[in-house]
Formats: sequence, structure tokens, C-alpha cells
Amino acid sequence: MSYTTEYQRAIESPEAFWKEKAQALPWSRFPETILSKDDNDIYRWFADGEMNTCYMALDYHVENGRGDQPALIYDSPVTGTKATYTYRKLHEEVAKFASVLAGKGVEKGDRVVIYMPMIPQAVIAMLASARLGAVHSVVFGGFAPHELAVRIEDASPKVLVTASCGIEVTKVLPYKPLVDEAISLSAHKPDSVIVYQRPEQLAELSADDTDWDSAMATATPAPCTVVQATDPLYILYTSGTTGKPKGVVRDNGGHAVALKYSMQAIYNMAPGEVFWAASDVGWVVGHSYIVYGPLLHGCTTVVYEGKPVKTPDAGAFWRMTEEYKIKALFAAPTAFRAIRKEDPDAKLVEKYDISSLKTIFMAGERLDPPTYLWTVDKTGKPVIDHWWQTETGWAICANPAGLEDLPVKPGSSTVPVPGFNVQVLDHTGKPLPAGEQGAIAIKLPMPPGCLPTIWGDCERFKHAYLEAYPDYYTSGDGGFKDDDGYVFIMGRTDDVINVAGHRLSTGEMEEIVAAHQAVAECSVIGVHDSLKGQVPVGLVLLKDGVDIDEDTLQQELVAMIRKEIGPLACFHRAVVVPRLPKTRSGKILRKLLRQIAANHEVAVPSTIDDPASVPEIQEIMQKQGLVKS
Ligand code: COA
Ligand code: AMP
Repeated sequence: MSYTTEYQRAIESPEAFWKEKAQALPWSRFPETILSKDDNDIYRWFADGEMNTCYMALDYHVENGRGDQPALIYDSPVTGTKATYTYRKLHEEVAKFASVLAGKGVEKGDRVVIYMPMIPQAVIAMLASARLGAVHSVVFGGFAPHELAVRIEDASPKVLVTASCGIEVTKVLPYKPLVDEAISLSAHKPDSVIVYQRPEQLAELSADDTDWDSAMATATPAPCTVVQATDPLYILYTSGTTGKPKGVVRDNGGHAVALKYSMQAIYNMAPGEVFWAASDVGWVVGHSYIVYGPLLHGCTTVVYEGKPVKTPDAGAFWRMTEEYKIKALFAAPTAFRAIRKEDPDAKLVEKYDISSLKTIFMAGERLDPPTYLWTVDKTGKPVIDHWWQTETGWAICANPAGLEDLPVKPGSSTVPVPGFNVQVLDHTGKPLPAGEQGAIAIKLPMPPGCLPTIWGDCERFKHAYLEAYPDYYTSGDGGFKDDDGYVFIMGRTDDVINVAGHRLSTGEMEEIVAAHQAVAECSVIGVHDSLKGQVPVGLVLLKDGVDIDEDTLQQELVAMIRKEIGPLACFHRAVVVPRLPKTRSGKILRKLLRQIAANHEVAVPSTIDDPASVPEIQEIMQKQGLVKS
């Protein structure tokens, strides 16, 4: 199948195209309405279809001969544990945990917050929630109690599922105190907390808490609850431009169809093969390609509890590939930069047989050409960069390995995936010609799988994504297309940064920094980092008359961000500046600061209050090493 034929069909006859793709899945009731609009005037896929995502991912495979095939491989170098769950075993555990949740009152539509490390129980909890038609919201373990509290408050879960601890290389991090603090900070209190006790550190349970193992010991399997295709499967919070994260909603039906299609068309996977997304279930990559995509497709997925390096060395990816005969490996470029740093000549690649590996996929941040070239050179494998977002749930642009191998252009995430009509727009919303940089937008309707709303706030959804350009979804990324239609993503056009493949809001960090008693004003910008892609740095203006040593201030700000957001923010530097460039109405020119940091030519707006502040801040940032060389 040629890419162009497939792409044209998806754009010209979207309903026929996606109806055909939906037939690959076992529905309870196959949809007659393929594309329609909901009460909020938002496009929806398969509105009258009925199904259950957990049934499609587990029961169906057990009923159709995959019961003894590994569904999930758990490999945890940090605890020295390995385990394999067949489809039958995973199904059994999920059905039992669904009954534990049901016993706590969880019903269709109720929310379940999951705050867990990378252990099979995290996947079991997600699928069990889906089994009941409930809505899970997984929160990444590196987030601090405050962030967890914000999510608990917004999602108002009936139950929270956690583990006694997480393990970061050699550090054992108790989770239960973080959960207790988050619940005390949140106005909403879950009815129950279920704790999976890990031997590395047991949690002290209160009389109200439920021990996972004890509850499972007496549980009987629960059946699947049939839901509408448009019912929510999960909420995944992601950073926006303010302190309040956006609860991206994923539906059941469109999501299943999109992921099933992507497993073949993008990742070139067949049922029975082993797929490893070296991410975390707390991120969208983990949702789509550790849990749902591989299982919907009847593949074996891998839950890896460790880092690409240091657990125990930079050979982890290659060791895993040999041991589990991994066919496709998916990770963030930062992981390969970390491996390259530790093992520049790739001596550890040679130690292992990686012949099963057919393709390496990268996403989460721009794949810089040096990392691309190093990985191709050292592994001898095709490397595919693909661009996507929490909001879309699957790749918007990719080199679709299952359709056609298109020539690679380093720096480009190749071409729009069938279903995504990607355009580069100028500020008036007019499509720009090839080569010209603008806002990257997707013409509506987007294909199945993409967000239909923000949890509890459709107006925010419309305002954030649909209002800038009528009839388009605005991605928040800027870039261009070349003459061959290849898409080059050049970075965010808003206050979102990507740190080690993790999406963070500088706006949120600014709110925290500005709360320090010595700080009058501040701007947090992402600066280039050779390992993590970007790291945040605070440019801080002190209040008049404040006498504080710069090191002390920096330490206090670092501690505040760590406490409020979590260690994953990687906020380690604050620089005191005499003034910040502003407009005459007093708005800090953040875009200009971003341009300076990126070493782009700066566009000084005519509305600037004091033009001399620009060369001054440029000089300071240069001296402080904050400008990309
Ligand atoms: N729970 C608790 N803490 C966590 C955590 C988790 N799940 N994940 C990260 N952290 C902590 C780390 O321990 C570290 O804390 P420290 O400041 O006390 O040392 C901090 O957050 C920063 O972590 P990280 O950015 O992961 O840095 P690192 O130096 O430990 O590892 C990489 C660097 C590149 C190896 C690692 O970031 C990585 O593997 N990134 C890939 C990310 C990814 O898969 N993204 C998903 C998109 S595909
Ligand atoms: P997240 O929602 O956490 O997946 O982050 C999405 C953002 O990460 C996108 O809007 C981009 O800014 C960035 N991103 C993800 N993948 C790529 C890629 N392949 N190339 C460039 N940027 C990417």
C-alpha cells in the first residue's frame, strides 16, 4: 500500500476510511454513525458504537487463541525482578482488580486516579478501570504532592490506587506520604485508597486504606461493562501555559481504532510480536504504546522499571532487545543522548544480539540530527522520528513504516499520518507555501483518537485549541513543510518546554518563583541542554531594597519548584537581572527571551518600553551561558 494512496483516501473519504479501520476490532455494536458532532459542536467518531476497551485488549485475545502468549513482560533492574504475564494471566488479574474497584463503589463514568511506578500493577489498574467503563487518570510518579492534589481535585476520583514506593536507580522513594499529603491538600477526597505494597519499602496503612494483595486474595473476576465509543476512557493531565494543567480526555472507540491502525501502519507490527516503548505509564506514550496499542493489536508489551543508563549501564536497551526479541523500540531522543554520553563508541551495542530489532522510533521532543546520525550509525537500524502530543494520543507525522519506507530527512518527522491534514499557517490563518515557517495546525476533523474536550471545561478546550484559526486545531508547535511535504517541527510557540522528553509549563514555574518574597517579577525560559534538550532557568528581578545573596535565592527557588512541581522539573538555576524587556503596558516579552535563548534573530516589537533592555539582557544571557551556541 503506498503512503500517498492511503493518505488521500483518509483525507477525501474519512468516513469510509475509518469505518474500514474500525472493522479490525471486536465491537459489541458496530457503529452506524461514523462521524458526527456532539452537543458542544465538536466532531466525534463512532457515536453510536458500543464496546469495551479492556475486552478488545484482553478478553478478545484470550477467546481467540492468544491466552498463552506473553501479553506483558516486566523487567526491573532496579529491584532485580522479571516476570511474564500471558494474556490469560493478565486478563485474570485485571478482571479481579476490576472487582476490587467495583467493591469500592466504582461504576461506569467514575474516576480512578493511579499514582504508581513502572510496575505491572499500574497497567492492571488502568485496564481494570477501563473494564468497568470507569475513567482513569494516571499521574506520573515524579510529580510532587501539590501536582497530584491539583489532579485529584479536578478529576474527583472515587478511588486512588498507589504503591508503597517507587525506585529511582538506587533511591527508594516512599509514595504513600506523598499521596497522603496530596489528599490533604485537595478539596476532593477519594472514598478509598488502595496500596500495592512493595518489599523495598512497605507503607504504613491507615484503617481506611486497602491493601492490594489482601483485596485481590478474595476477589472474583468482574465482567466488562459496555460503553459508548464516545464515553471517556481516561483523563491525562498535561502542561499548558498556566499553573492549571489541562485534563486531556480520551474516548474509548476512536482511541481503540486509531491505536490499532497505528500499530500496523506506523510501527509495522504484527500480532504476536514484541513492542517496547521505553517510557512511563504516566505519559501519553506510556498510555498509548505501553498499554493500549500493543495489547489491542495482540502484541507483547514491555514494562521496564529502570533508566536507559545506570541500570546497570548504558547497555540496558540492547540487553532488553536481545533478551525479549524486541522488534520495535520507542524512546525519547534524550534517552539516546544519555546512552551516547556514557557509551559514545557504542561498545555495549556489540555485546548483544540486536538482530530482532527492525526499527527504532523516537518522539517526545525534536530528534536532533547528531542524535539521529549517531543512533543509525551505531545500531545499523532505521530510526524514525515521529511527532505527536498528549492531545492527539498518536502520531501526527511519521515515516509510516507499515505502509511505505519513505526517505529520511534528518530534522524532519517526515509526513502527515493518514487522517491528519497538517497545514502551516500564517498569523491570519492562511496556509503558507513550502519553506515558510508558521504555526502548525490540523484541519478539522482530526482523525479518531484525538481529544474531544478538556475534562469539565469544553470552553477552555475551544479557547486553547480551536479559536486561533477557524476550522483548525492549533498544535502549539511552529515549523514548516518542505517542497516534498516533509514536516519540520521547530519548537513550541507558547510557554511549554520539553525537559528530557517531559512536557512542562514555564508559566507554572513562573507562578511559583514569583511567590518568593524577594522576587518582584520573573520569567522562566527553556534553555538548551545537551542531554535533556531543554532545562528551565529563571530570570529574576528582585524587589527594591531586598538584600538576599544570589546563591541563597537560587537554592530557595530550586527547593520551591521541587516541592510544588517535583524533581522532574529539573529547575536548577535562577539568574538575577536588573530589568526584563517589557511592552509599554508592562508585559514581559517572553517570546523575545525565548528567541534570545534559542540564538534566533530577535524580533523587537514596536510596543517595547525600553529598547536598551534588549542588548542588555542578551549580554547577560550570553555571559551566563544561557544562549544556545
Ligand atoms: N518518580 C520519582 N522521581 C522521578 C521520576 C519518577 N518516576 N522520574 C524522574 N524522577 C526524578 C529523578 O530521580 C531526578 O531527581 P533528582 O533531581 O533528585 O536526581 C529528577 O526527577 C530528574 O529526572 P530525569 O529528568 O529523568 O533525569 P535523570 O538524570 O535521572 O535521567 C534520562 C536522565 C535522560 C536518562 C531520563 O530523563 C530519561 O530516560 N528520559 C526519557 C524520558 C521519557 O521516556 N519520556 C517519555 C516520552 S517518550
Ligand atoms: P507531550 O504532549 O508531552 O507528548 O509533548 C508534546 C510536545 O512535544 C509537542 O507539542 C512538541 O513540542 C514536542 N514533540 C513531541 N514529539 C516531537 C517530535 N518528534 N519532534 C519535535 N517535537 C516533538
